[in-house]
Order: sequence, then C-alpha cells, then structure tokens
Amino acid sequence: MREAGLRVGVDEFGNLIGSRPSELGSALLAGSHLDTVPQGGMFDGALGVVAAIECARVLHEGGRSLRHPFVAIAFAEEEGYTFGSGTLSSRSLLGEMPRDQFSELVDRSGRTYDEYLRARAHGLPQAHVPAQVRAYIELHAEQGPHLERMAKQVASVDQIVGSQRTVVTFEGRAAHAGTTPMDRRADALLGGAEFVLAVNEIATASNGRGVGTVGELHAYPGARNVIPGKTALSVEFRSQDDTWLTSARERADGAAGKIAGRRKLGVRVTPWTGSLVQPMDSGLQQAILAAMRLAGHDAVTLSSWAGHDAGILARYVPSGMIFVPSTGGISHAPEEHTPWPAVEAGTHVLLETILRLDATDGTGGTLPLAYAAR
Ligand code: GLV
Ligand code: MN
Ligand code: MN
Repeated sequence: MREAGLRVGVDEFGNLIGSRPSELGSALLAGSHLDTVPQGGMFDGALGVVAAIECARVLHEGGRSLRHPFVAIAFAEEEGYTFGSGTLSSRSLLGEMPRDQFSELVDRSGRTYDEYLRARAHGLPQAHVPAQVRAYIELHAEQGPHLERMAKQVASVDQIVGSQRTVVTFEGRAAHAGTTPMDRRADALLGGAEFVLAVNEIATASNGRGVGTVGELHAYPGARNVIPGKTALSVEFRSQDDTWLTSARERADGAAGKIAGRRKLGVRVTPWTGSLVQPMDSGLQQAILAAMRLAGHDAVTLSSWAGHDAGILARYVPSGMIFVPSTGGISHAPEEHTPWPAVEAGTHVLLETILRLDATDGTGGTLPLAYAAR
C-alpha cells in the first residue's frame, strides 16, 4: 500500500485502510477481505485487496490524480471461521454487530472477539473508513464454475445470494458402546446422520434453486467406546430466491422434529440467522459493464453464490462486484486458482470502473460508522 502511494492505517475492527486523499467529499472504496477458511486458497479475498492496491499503484506511478479520494480496504474477518460469524468486520464497522456482543463471540481457544480486538498490535497508525462513499467495488474470484464454462475472463455481479443458518442439536443418552444392547440405545449421532441426509435432500429437490450444507458435525462426548449422547450440526441453506430459503428452513425444522420423534431423541434448533438476497447497485453494474466493453470484454453478468462484504456495504452505499473465473470452479480449497490473464483483465476493469465513476458526479451514500472515538 505504501509503495502504491497510499497512506496506511488500521481501524479498531482490524480493517487495514490505505487512502489517497482528494478534494471531493465522497470516496471511491475498493477492496475485499484478507482472512480465509481453514485450508483455503490464496485468492478468496486477498485477490480483491491486491487488485485495489494495484489500481492505486498504476494511478500513483502514472501521476494521475482523481477527483474523489480513493481508499483500498482489507476487511479483517469475512469468512466467519474464527468467531462463527460471517462478514464480522464489515458488520462491526457498520454497527450491525453491536459492541455489547463482542464479548459473546469466542474462538476455539476461548478468546473473545473483544479481547482479540484489544490485543491487536499492528504497529500502524489508527485510520478510519470514510463515512461518505461514492461507491464500493469488490473484485473477487467467482468461486464457482460459470465463468470458466463460458470461457469468459470477467463478469459484473447482479446480486449476492441469500442465506439461512442454524445449529441443530440432538440429545440422546451417552452409554457404554460394548455393554448397551442395540435396542436400548438413544444414539444422538444417528439422528444427526439422518438429518445430514435430510438437508441434502431438501437442497437436491430444489433443482438448482438452492444449496444446503452441513459443514460441521460434533458428537459428544466423542470417544470410540461411548455411544454419542449429543450431537450438534451446523446447517446452512443458500439461494438466489428468498422464498425458497423460507421453505427450506421450514422443511429442515420439520425434518429435525420428525427424526427426533422417530428416534426418541430430544432436539433443539437454535434461531435461524441469515440475510436476504442483496442486489448490487444498478448504476454501478452499468459502470462495470461499460468498463468491460471498453476493455474488449463481452457484457457478462453473474449472480454470486458466495457471501461478500459487498453484500453488507450495499445496504448503505452503491456497491458492485467484478468476478474473475475460478479454475475448475474450485474455492475454499487449497487448489483454488484464477488464471493470471483473467486477474489482469479483472483488475483492468476495476481501474476503468474507478476512472469512470471518478469522472461522473453520482450520488453516493453514508456509512453508519460504529467507531468509538474519532
Ligand atoms: C464466504 O466465502 C461465504 O460465502 O461463506
Ligand atoms: Mn471471499
Ligand atoms: Mn470465502
């Protein structure tokens, strides 16, 4: 960021901010996140941060000034792996994750989000995301198979998937795995196993309208010679259609109850949380598509099946996304890759979009920043 002529600092939520001041009030914001999932690849998130810095570098080295301030941002925590809560940094920044809940979010070592934020020591000055934002643009790998299948290098995103998540817990009776006859067991993991299949069936029956995943499953007490007395599963559904999400949720609740009844287990479904399908700003989509045409690309539009910080910022300021292909459609895995010519094409489109927006006087928006002290 420094080499790209940006003034670098970090905010109280751990977001890394590189800014290039200018005369107009509202800023052009570009970036993505720097965290990743366990055994994730090097593109999901980091690519959008690097692309924003590269745009700053090109402007800096070309001696090109912008009318709007330009800010490259690296959100600290988007995946939700550490504290079990996705888009945590952007939602904290915008007050959607209230401060009084920071001490309730705990990582696997027992450390709270609050403690984590207080202990940070990057050795960087404090910085703030500006409140007045003309646009937020996030370049990201598609993480799915469509762009590669279409043999295209870049796309504009029209909307970000909606999602619903919960944890389902089945309660049985822990007992000795050798001495307890099969007909005297209340094995909670069997309820969990059946429920995994039910989630898969709900999503499969949607014929592409939705997807469903159990990504975490814990059996307690978790020993080879103990019949599991309790099992807890994470469940998530995603869809481009909010109606389907509601029905998937109801069907999952129903399946959990039926399985528990049949197997004589207790069951608890924690309240579902999630987000609605989030459209990207139409003016910004037009600007991205125009930049794509200018750079010699077809005007391709895709919907995002992954969640992004852009989905949070879009609630307040015009937001848009630029997708580049994922080789083999693979992401959230070490093999994740985007061909370098596509990275270059996408970054070029990002720069052209920034220049386009800078040349026009659009109405931006105001971010409800949740900084404690300014
Ligand atoms: C983030 O990658 C998500 O979509 O879960
Ligand atoms: Mn991501
Ligand atoms: Mn991800």
